[in-house]
Amino acid sequence: MTDRYAIVGNPVGFSKSPLIHTEFARQTGQDIEYTRLEAPLGRFKETVDAFRAAGAKGVNITAPFKLDAFAYASDVSEAARLAGAANALSFEGDRVRAENFDGIGLVNDIQRNLGFSLQGKRVLMLGAGGAARGALLPFLAQQPAEFVLANRTAAKAQALARQCEGAGSIRGCGLQDLEGLRFDIVLNATSASLTGELPAVPASVFGSAQLAYELAYAKGLTPFLRLAQGAGVQRLADGVGMLVEQAAEAFQWWRGVRPDTAPLIRQLTVPLA
Ligand code: ATR
Repeated sequence: MTDRYAIVGNPVGFSKSPLIHTEFARQTGQDIEYTRLEAPLGRFKETVDAFRAAGAKGVNITAPFKLDAFAYASDVSEAARLAGAANALSFEGDRVRAENFDGIGLVNDIQRNLGFSLQGKRVLMLGAGGAARGALLPFLAQQPAEFVLANRTAAKAQALARQCEGAGSIRGCGLQDLEGLRFDIVLNATSASLTGELPAVPASVFGSAQLAYELAYAKGLTPFLRLAQGAGVQRLADGVGMLVEQAAEAFQWWRGVRPDTAPLIRQLTVPLA
Protein backbone atom coordinates (compact mmCIF):
# COMPACT_ATOMS: atom_id res chain seq x y z
CA MET A 1 0.00 0.00 0.00
CA THR A 2 1.21 3.50 -0.79
CA ASP A 3 2.33 5.40 2.36
CA ARG A 4 1.23 9.01 2.56
CA TYR A 5 3.25 12.05 3.65
CA ALA A 6 2.86 15.80 3.19
CA ILE A 7 4.40 19.19 3.82
CA VAL A 8 2.14 21.28 6.06
CA GLY A 9 2.33 25.07 5.87
CA ASN A 10 0.47 28.25 5.02
CA PRO A 11 1.14 29.18 2.31
CA VAL A 12 2.61 25.93 1.04
CA GLY A 13 2.33 26.25 -2.74
CA PHE A 14 5.97 27.33 -3.07
CA SER A 15 7.35 24.28 -1.26
CA LYS A 16 9.85 22.09 -3.09
CA SER A 17 9.37 19.23 -0.60
CA PRO A 18 6.90 17.23 -2.78
CA LEU A 19 9.32 17.36 -5.70
CA ILE A 20 12.28 16.37 -3.49
CA HIS A 21 10.58 13.46 -1.70
CA THR A 22 8.96 12.16 -4.87
CA GLU A 23 12.40 12.05 -6.50
CA PHE A 24 13.91 10.37 -3.41
CA ALA A 25 11.15 7.74 -3.56
CA ARG A 26 11.75 7.11 -7.28
CA GLN A 27 15.51 6.80 -6.66
CA THR A 28 15.14 4.33 -3.78
CA GLY A 29 12.07 2.41 -5.02
CA GLN A 30 9.91 3.44 -2.05
CA ASP A 31 6.12 3.38 -2.52
CA ILE A 32 5.08 6.77 -1.13
CA GLU A 33 2.86 9.67 -2.06
CA TYR A 34 3.98 13.13 -0.86
CA THR A 35 1.65 16.10 -1.21
CA ARG A 36 1.14 19.69 -0.04
CA LEU A 37 -1.26 20.31 2.83
CA GLU A 38 -2.29 23.89 3.50
CA ALA A 39 -3.57 24.20 7.07
CA PRO A 40 -5.76 27.21 7.83
CA LEU A 41 -4.05 29.53 10.33
CA GLY A 42 -4.80 28.35 13.86
CA ARG A 43 -5.90 24.91 12.64
CA PHE A 44 -2.68 22.91 12.49
CA LYS A 45 -3.94 20.27 14.93
CA GLU A 46 -7.26 19.66 13.18
CA THR A 47 -5.58 19.48 9.78
CA VAL A 48 -2.95 16.99 10.92
CA ASP A 49 -5.48 14.96 12.96
CA ALA A 50 -7.51 14.47 9.77
CA PHE A 51 -4.44 13.50 7.75
CA ARG A 52 -3.42 10.96 10.40
CA ALA A 53 -6.95 9.56 10.57
CA ALA A 54 -6.69 8.99 6.82
CA GLY A 55 -3.64 6.78 7.44
CA ALA A 56 -0.74 9.20 6.89
CA LYS A 57 2.71 8.16 8.12
CA GLY A 58 4.33 11.55 8.62
CA VAL A 59 4.62 15.21 7.71
CA ASN A 60 7.20 17.90 7.22
CA ILE A 61 6.35 21.30 8.58
CA THR A 62 7.11 24.76 7.27
CA ALA A 63 6.13 28.29 8.38
CA PRO A 64 4.21 29.17 10.41
CA PHE A 65 3.60 25.80 12.06
CA LYS A 66 6.97 24.55 13.36
CA LEU A 67 6.07 25.50 16.95
CA ASP A 68 2.59 23.95 16.62
CA ALA A 69 4.19 20.75 15.32
CA PHE A 70 6.47 20.65 18.34
CA ALA A 71 3.50 21.09 20.68
CA TYR A 72 1.56 18.39 18.80
CA ALA A 73 4.21 15.70 19.36
CA SER A 74 4.27 13.13 22.16
CA ASP A 75 8.01 12.32 21.82
CA VAL A 76 10.55 14.99 20.89
CA SER A 77 14.21 14.66 19.93
CA GLU A 78 16.95 16.72 21.59
CA ALA A 79 17.37 18.90 18.48
CA ALA A 80 13.64 19.61 18.36
CA ARG A 81 13.56 20.33 22.09
CA LEU A 82 16.32 22.91 21.94
CA ALA A 83 14.81 24.54 18.86
CA GLY A 84 11.35 24.43 20.46
CA ALA A 85 10.26 23.61 16.93
CA ALA A 86 9.82 20.55 14.72
CA ASN A 87 10.21 20.24 10.98
CA ALA A 88 9.32 16.55 10.73
CA LEU A 89 6.77 14.33 12.48
CA SER A 90 6.42 10.57 12.33
CA PHE A 91 3.11 8.91 13.19
CA GLU A 92 3.46 5.58 14.94
CA GLY A 93 0.15 4.35 16.32
CA ASP A 94 -0.84 6.75 19.11
CA ARG A 95 2.62 8.27 19.28
CA VAL A 96 3.80 11.32 17.36
CA ARG A 97 7.58 11.66 17.19
CA ALA A 98 9.09 15.06 16.44
CA GLU A 99 12.45 15.86 14.90
CA ASN A 100 14.21 18.96 13.69
CA PHE A 101 16.55 18.21 10.81
CA ASP A 102 17.26 21.80 9.72
CA GLY A 103 20.52 21.97 11.68
CA ILE A 104 21.91 18.62 10.64
CA GLY A 105 20.90 19.41 7.05
CA LEU A 106 22.91 22.63 7.22
CA VAL A 107 25.94 20.93 8.77
CA ASN A 108 25.86 18.13 6.18
CA ASP A 109 25.65 20.66 3.36
CA ILE A 110 28.64 22.63 4.65
CA GLN A 111 30.81 19.59 5.38
CA ARG A 112 29.86 17.00 2.79
CA ASN A 113 28.72 19.09 -0.16
CA LEU A 114 30.73 22.29 0.17
CA GLY A 115 33.73 20.53 1.71
CA PHE A 116 34.35 22.83 4.70
CA SER A 117 35.12 21.07 7.97
CA LEU A 118 33.75 22.87 11.03
CA GLN A 119 36.15 21.30 13.48
CA GLY A 120 38.55 23.83 14.97
CA LYS A 121 37.00 26.72 13.00
CA ARG A 122 35.80 30.10 14.22
CA VAL A 123 32.14 30.22 13.28
CA LEU A 124 29.76 33.19 13.40
CA MET A 125 26.02 32.74 13.09
CA LEU A 126 23.74 35.78 12.78
CA GLY A 127 20.24 35.51 14.23
CA ALA A 128 18.58 33.90 17.23
CA GLY A 129 15.19 32.97 15.79
CA GLY A 130 13.86 29.56 14.79
CA ALA A 131 16.40 29.01 12.01
CA ALA A 132 19.38 29.62 14.31
CA ARG A 133 17.99 27.63 17.23
CA GLY A 134 17.63 24.49 15.12
CA ALA A 135 21.25 24.67 14.02
CA LEU A 136 23.07 25.08 17.34
CA LEU A 137 23.46 21.51 18.61
CA PRO A 138 24.54 19.98 15.29
CA PHE A 139 27.13 22.77 14.91
CA LEU A 140 28.53 22.36 18.40
CA ALA A 141 28.76 18.60 17.86
CA GLN A 142 31.37 19.32 15.17
CA GLN A 143 33.58 21.04 17.77
CA PRO A 144 34.32 24.41 16.21
CA ALA A 145 37.08 26.28 18.08
CA GLU A 146 34.63 29.10 18.69
CA PHE A 147 30.93 29.53 17.93
CA VAL A 148 29.54 33.05 18.24
CA LEU A 149 25.83 33.65 17.97
CA ALA A 150 25.14 37.32 17.27
CA ASN A 151 21.71 38.86 17.16
CA ARG A 152 20.16 42.32 16.70
CA THR A 153 18.56 41.74 20.12
CA ALA A 154 21.64 40.64 22.05
CA ALA A 155 19.73 39.22 25.03
CA LYS A 156 18.08 36.55 22.83
CA ALA A 157 21.43 35.29 21.57
CA GLN A 158 22.89 35.33 25.07
CA ALA A 159 19.98 33.36 26.52
CA LEU A 160 20.16 30.79 23.73
CA ALA A 161 23.93 30.42 24.10
CA ARG A 162 23.51 29.82 27.85
CA GLN A 163 21.00 27.04 27.11
CA CYS A 164 23.61 25.11 25.11
CA GLU A 165 26.71 25.85 27.15
CA GLY A 166 27.14 22.19 28.04
CA ALA A 167 27.30 21.20 24.38
CA GLY A 168 30.42 23.16 23.41
CA SER A 169 32.16 26.51 23.14
CA ILE A 170 29.39 29.01 22.39
CA ARG A 171 28.93 32.71 23.15
CA GLY A 172 25.97 35.01 22.48
CA CYS A 173 26.30 38.74 21.74
CA GLY A 174 24.84 41.70 19.85
CA LEU A 175 25.74 42.61 16.25
CA GLN A 176 27.56 45.72 17.48
CA ASP A 177 29.85 43.54 19.61
CA LEU A 178 31.36 41.99 16.46
CA GLU A 179 33.56 44.98 15.68
CA GLY A 180 37.16 43.82 15.40
CA LEU A 181 36.37 40.08 15.37
CA ARG A 182 37.15 37.74 12.44
CA PHE A 183 35.73 34.37 11.55
CA ASP A 184 36.41 31.45 9.19
CA ILE A 185 32.76 30.73 8.39
CA VAL A 186 29.90 33.25 8.62
CA LEU A 187 26.24 32.24 8.36
CA ASN A 188 23.15 34.40 8.08
CA ALA A 189 20.27 32.76 9.94
CA THR A 190 18.28 35.99 10.32
CA SER A 191 15.15 36.59 8.30
CA ALA A 192 16.56 39.92 7.05
CA SER A 193 17.15 38.60 3.53
CA LEU A 194 13.47 37.79 3.09
CA THR A 195 12.83 41.55 3.05
CA GLY A 196 16.05 42.47 1.25
CA GLU A 197 17.63 43.89 4.42
CA LEU A 198 21.18 43.62 5.65
CA PRO A 199 21.83 42.68 9.29
CA ALA A 200 24.01 45.47 10.70
CA VAL A 201 27.18 43.42 10.77
CA PRO A 202 30.65 44.96 10.26
CA ALA A 203 32.34 43.78 7.02
CA SER A 204 35.46 43.08 9.10
CA VAL A 205 33.90 39.80 10.38
CA PHE A 206 34.66 38.37 6.92
CA GLY A 207 38.34 39.34 7.27
CA SER A 208 39.60 35.77 7.01
CA ALA A 209 36.40 33.96 6.06
CA GLN A 210 36.45 31.14 3.52
CA LEU A 211 32.69 30.67 3.38
CA ALA A 212 29.61 32.90 3.70
CA TYR A 213 26.35 30.97 3.92
CA GLU A 214 22.86 32.43 3.56
CA LEU A 215 20.27 30.06 5.03
CA ALA A 216 17.50 31.53 2.87
CA TYR A 217 17.11 29.81 -0.45
CA ALA A 218 16.81 31.14 -4.01
CA LYS A 219 17.02 34.81 -3.04
CA GLY A 220 20.01 35.40 -5.31
CA LEU A 221 22.88 37.55 -4.12
CA THR A 222 21.32 38.87 -0.89
CA PRO A 223 22.70 42.00 0.85
CA PHE A 224 24.54 39.63 3.25
CA LEU A 225 26.17 37.69 0.42
CA ARG A 226 27.04 40.93 -1.39
CA LEU A 227 28.76 42.24 1.71
CA ALA A 228 30.71 38.97 1.99
CA GLN A 229 31.64 39.08 -1.68
CA GLY A 230 32.82 42.68 -1.36
CA ALA A 231 34.95 41.65 1.62
CA GLY A 232 36.68 39.04 -0.55
CA VAL A 233 35.01 35.81 0.62
CA GLN A 234 35.71 33.20 -2.06
CA ARG A 235 32.84 30.83 -1.49
CA LEU A 236 29.23 32.03 -1.24
CA ALA A 237 26.35 29.62 -0.72
CA ASP A 238 22.62 29.75 -0.13
CA GLY A 239 20.33 27.27 1.60
CA VAL A 240 19.47 25.02 -1.34
CA GLY A 241 21.78 22.27 -0.09
CA MET A 242 20.40 22.60 3.44
CA LEU A 243 16.87 22.23 2.06
CA VAL A 244 17.68 19.00 0.23
CA GLU A 245 19.84 17.60 3.05
CA GLN A 246 17.17 18.12 5.73
CA ALA A 247 14.72 16.36 3.41
CA ALA A 248 17.15 13.45 3.04
CA GLU A 249 17.37 13.14 6.86
CA ALA A 250 13.57 13.01 7.14
CA PHE A 251 13.32 10.50 4.30
CA GLN A 252 15.88 8.24 5.94
CA TRP A 253 14.15 8.58 9.32
CA TRP A 254 10.80 7.57 7.83
CA ARG A 255 11.90 4.99 5.27
CA GLY A 256 15.21 3.61 6.54
CA VAL A 257 17.06 4.29 3.27
CA ARG A 258 19.41 7.11 2.38
CA PRO A 259 18.71 8.94 -0.89
CA ASP A 260 21.32 10.65 -3.06
CA THR A 261 21.04 14.42 -2.66
CA ALA A 262 23.44 15.62 -5.38
CA PRO A 263 21.10 15.43 -8.42
CA LEU A 264 18.37 17.40 -6.62
CA ILE A 265 20.75 20.06 -5.35
CA ARG A 266 21.94 20.52 -8.93
CA GLN A 267 18.36 20.68 -10.21
CA LEU A 268 17.15 23.21 -7.60
CA THR A 269 20.18 25.50 -7.54
CA VAL A 270 19.34 29.04 -8.61
CA PRO A 271 22.49 30.94 -9.64
CA LEU A 272 23.52 33.51 -7.01
CA ALA A 273 24.45 36.26 -9.44
P1 ATR B 1 13.15 32.46 11.73
O1 ATR B 1 12.28 31.36 12.17
O2 ATR B 1 13.25 32.65 10.24
O3 ATR B 1 14.50 32.45 12.37
P2 ATR B 1 12.25 34.46 13.61
O4 ATR B 1 12.14 33.42 14.65
O5 ATR B 1 11.17 35.49 13.46
O6 ATR B 1 12.38 33.82 12.18
O7 ATR B 1 13.65 35.19 13.81
C1 ATR B 1 14.08 36.18 12.94
C2 ATR B 1 15.55 36.48 13.25
O8 ATR B 1 16.05 37.41 12.28
C3 ATR B 1 15.76 37.16 14.59
O9 ATR B 1 17.04 36.76 15.09
C4 ATR B 1 15.74 38.65 14.24
O10 ATR B 1 16.42 39.48 15.15
P3 ATR B 1 15.68 39.99 16.50
O11 ATR B 1 15.68 38.83 17.45
O12 ATR B 1 16.49 41.13 16.98
O13 ATR B 1 14.28 40.40 16.07
C5 ATR B 1 16.49 38.60 12.93
N1 ATR B 1 16.23 39.73 12.03
C6 ATR B 1 15.12 39.97 11.30
N2 ATR B 1 15.26 41.09 10.55
C7 ATR B 1 16.50 41.57 10.83
C8 ATR B 1 17.25 42.70 10.38
N3 ATR B 1 16.76 43.57 9.49
N4 ATR B 1 18.51 42.86 10.86
C9 ATR B 1 19.03 41.99 11.76
N5 ATR B 1 18.37 40.92 12.22
C10 ATR B 1 17.13 40.70 11.76
